[in-house]
Amino acid sequence: MDRAELLALADRHRAARPPCRIRCCMAAGCQSANGEGVKQALAKAVQGAGLSKEIEVQDVGCLRWCGAGPLVQLDPSGAMYRNVRPEDAPALVATVKGDGEGGPARVDLQHPFFTRQLPIVLENSGQIDPERLEEYLTADGYQALYHALFEMNPADVVAAVTRSGLRGRGGAGYPTGLKWATVAKNPGKTKYVICNGDEGDPGAFMDRSVMESDPHRVLEGMAIAAYAVGAAQGFVYVRAEYPLAVARLNKAIQQGNGVGVLGTQIFGTPFNFRVDVRIGAGAFVCGEETALIASVEGKRGQPRPRPPYPAESGLWGAPTLINNVETYANIPTILRKGADWYAAIGTEKSKGTKVFSLTGKVANTGLIEVPMGTTLRTIVEEMGGGVPGGRVKAVQTGGPSGGCIPAELLDTPVDYESLTKLGSIMGSGGMIVMDQATNMVEVARFFMEFCMDESCGKCIPCRAGTVQMYRLLTKIVRREAGVADLEQLQKLCQMVRETSLCGLGQTAPNPVLSTIRYFLPEYQTLLRT
Ligand SMILES: Cc1cc2nc3c(=O)[nH]c(=O)nc-3n(C[C@H](O)[C@H](O)[C@H](O)COP(=O)(O)O)c2cc1C
Ligand code: SF4
Repeated sequence: MDRAELLALADRHRAARPPCRIRCCMAAGCQSANGEGVKQALAKAVQGAGLSKEIEVQDVGCLRWCGAGPLVQLDPSGAMYRNVRPEDAPALVATVKGDGEGGPARVDLQHPFFTRQLPIVLENSGQIDPERLEEYLTADGYQALYHALFEMNPADVVAAVTRSGLRGRGGAGYPTGLKWATVAKNPGKTKYVICNGDEGDPGAFMDRSVMESDPHRVLEGMAIAAYAVGAAQGFVYVRAEYPLAVARLNKAIQQGNGVGVLGTQIFGTPFNFRVDVRIGAGAFVCGEETALIASVEGKRGQPRPRPPYPAESGLWGAPTLINNVETYANIPTILRKGADWYAAIGTEKSKGTKVFSLTGKVANTGLIEVPMGTTLRTIVEEMGGGVPGGRVKAVQTGGPSGGCIPAELLDTPVDYESLTKLGSIMGSGGMIVMDQATNMVEVARFFMEFCMDESCGKCIPCRAGTVQMYRLLTKIVRREAGVADLEQLQKLCQMVRETSLCGLGQTAPNPVLSTIRYFLPEYQTLLRT
């Protein structure tokens, strides 16, 4: 299809829509809380009331306040309801028509949890049906790709991404434009584009939600990237534990191929881009880029030394662009609204927004997208509503590679540099709130056990070091350790950090070091005297 035909498809879809909608969150969180049952009850109630022509019961992606699911939102009023049960359906249907009140509890959309958000990556999340291409088209879908193909050359696209200041959202924050420029300039007839949707950090579900809620956005970002760097094949690597994300991506790819926004001769141009999904077995280390590439090649998912970086020699030895899900999901908006618009959001060195999965001992758990530079206090206390009946002790960011930031430092702005300075990292966006009852040594031990289990065993410092560190932490927790054990633990942290082959081992000591830095008395009280 050409652009006019796509726009006409979107218009027809818009015109055919009933005036009222009941949007039902069909992302994994609400589904696991019987969202499907709620949706079916709503559909039955609409049909029973003879209102099928007036009210559409629609599947949408994540409505963000995941801890209060199943969530349902009504149009045109915009009212959102939480903890909806199937028996609430008749009251909700009456409410859409303006004939009733009551039913489930209403969500206060003026709460900072919502008002402090700036949805860019999540702009369609909860608004459109992720399984229908026409819905994405009504939200300007694939317009950025069209703009890139017809109004920009590949170098212009790279320049725009560079100017936007976007940095990789997978953890390290490497400048995206620079990475694209490196792949673009590397010679090679065959190049690849990979989307890293492995997301193995405990407490993280941002990428999962983006893939489940707006798969076309990720694919459009990948297609633009492929055009910019000169690739014709892409892979989305998703863990097998995310079956809904896999199913929706596959469906979106099929739809995209069907209308010619993916596949061959995209928009009638010579640009071809085929995408395939590759399913990972759920090893944390397979999120590391070289291990991921080995896994896609059908080999055991183990990291290898870098250089060469994937940008020079990646998948099957070809120059390969590998970016995170959220990184790609930012691209269509950057091209549609402009690099300067994007660069005006955030801080000097961390531009744009960041999606976090806010979890743990906090009143409001769910997905949030905030401008970079928002303070941890705003996120945890204002948006998250703090600890119910208690006080925050620490916030863990960056998962097993990150650290625990104490409550005294909650005024820290969330940006790459500030979090690193505190001994944590931004990571991919998992944010776990801990209350006063949390034993910080246990927290360090939990993450060390995770790293020990997930270590691929290729290099000795990580393979043996994580085991030794875990044993020392266990000894401390059991009050069997002395001062010398704590000193030994710190020495091991330094050794494993400096000598491990990949990021898993290099960062595995972070939760230990950050808890020692900020919560040393907790360790000391557990030591034998
Ligand atoms: C142990 C380990 C696990 C990782 N897991 C992920 C992951 O799940 N998702 C991701 O995007 N990046 C992950 N990374 C970072 C990737 O290696 C890579 O830097 C990233 O995909 C690059 O994309 P970006 O520049 O868009 O951030 C991981 C790194 C390490 C060391
Ligand atoms: S640091 Fe750990 S995960 Fe990474 S290569 Fe070495 S053993 Fe494997």
